[in-house]
Amino acid sequence: MAKINDIDEIEAIEVELLLQGIYKRYGYDFRNYALASIRRRILRFADNENLPTISSVQEAVMHDPAIMDRFVLSLTVNVTAMFRDPAFFAMMREKVIPLLKTYPLIRIWDAGCATGEEAYSLAILLQEEGIYEKSRIYATDLNESVLRKAKSGIFHLSQMKEYTDNYIQAGGKQAFSEYYTAKFDHAILHQSLRKNIVFAQHNLVTDRSFNEFNLVLMRNVLIYFNEDLRANVLKLVHQSLSPFGILALGKRETLPSEARGRTYEELDATEKLYRRCA
Ligand SMILES: C[S@@+](CC[C@H](N)C(=O)[O-])C[C@H]1O[C@@H](n2cnc3c(N)ncnc32)[C@H](O)[C@@H]1O
Repeated sequence: MAKINDIDEIEAIEVELLLQGIYKRYGYDFRNYALASIRRRILRFADNENLPTISSVQEAVMHDPAIMDRFVLSLTVNVTAMFRDPAFFAMMREKVIPLLKTYPLIRIWDAGCATGEEAYSLAILLQEEGIYEKSRIYATDLNESVLRKAKSGIFHLSQMKEYTDNYIQAGGKQAFSEYYTAKFDHAILHQSLRKNIVFAQHNLVTDRSFNEFNLVLMRNVLIYFNEDLRANVLKLVHQSLSPFGILALGKRETLPSEARGRTYEELDATEKLYRRCA
């Protein structure tokens, strides 16, 4: 009978082999995601799919792309909300919008956009500040199925109560209900919000920089990566920011201390807003 320590060790080997296999077979690279959380998610997936071991997950995903799709979805945390962390959006209005207003054309990258609520919140903010017409939001995620939902712009009506509260706390200027039409139990966001958003697949680990942006939002994504991967992804983001471009991270994320001051100045430490130095 295998002892507890043996089981941990076997599982660690299985996780490594599984992630290596997925990378080779499908090109998705989860090898440098934070181990504890990825292990937990793999075990939950195995449980849901009635697979007895991590090795059997490997066999299943290797041979069945449909299982692989479910697996990718189960590995990533796609939790999001409109005007999530309202104080962040209030600070965007106060400190970032005035800077963006000075540009003739504003390019924004929402990296790790999940089901799109963040991108639509930005669209509302930019519209209310009169600069949406000259803005382009590129909202990307590695996950095809969350992007499908994002593109639809349709959310469950039951979410609107929370989103309305967030919007008000974020300093919203209208009635939030003006931004959607309720139909049965769904809220359909108005087409005018969708107009300057491009949703597309992009993997922060394996894909390159694809443009230069005045603002990059990458909130609640880095927390799922290990230190090496975080450093690589921050390099990619840095390459994707124009001089004096702005970077927004999530509440629990921060730039490494050596980047603060030299590479970025802090626009707002609490809301994790940074500005690239030159
Ligand atoms: C918790 S959600 C954050 C959503 C939104 N930014 C927010 O803060 O509400 C994290 C998102 O990052 C995406 N993600 C994880 N790894 C990624 C990668 N390597 N490349 C692109 N997106 C990734 C996940 O699919 C997920 O949708």
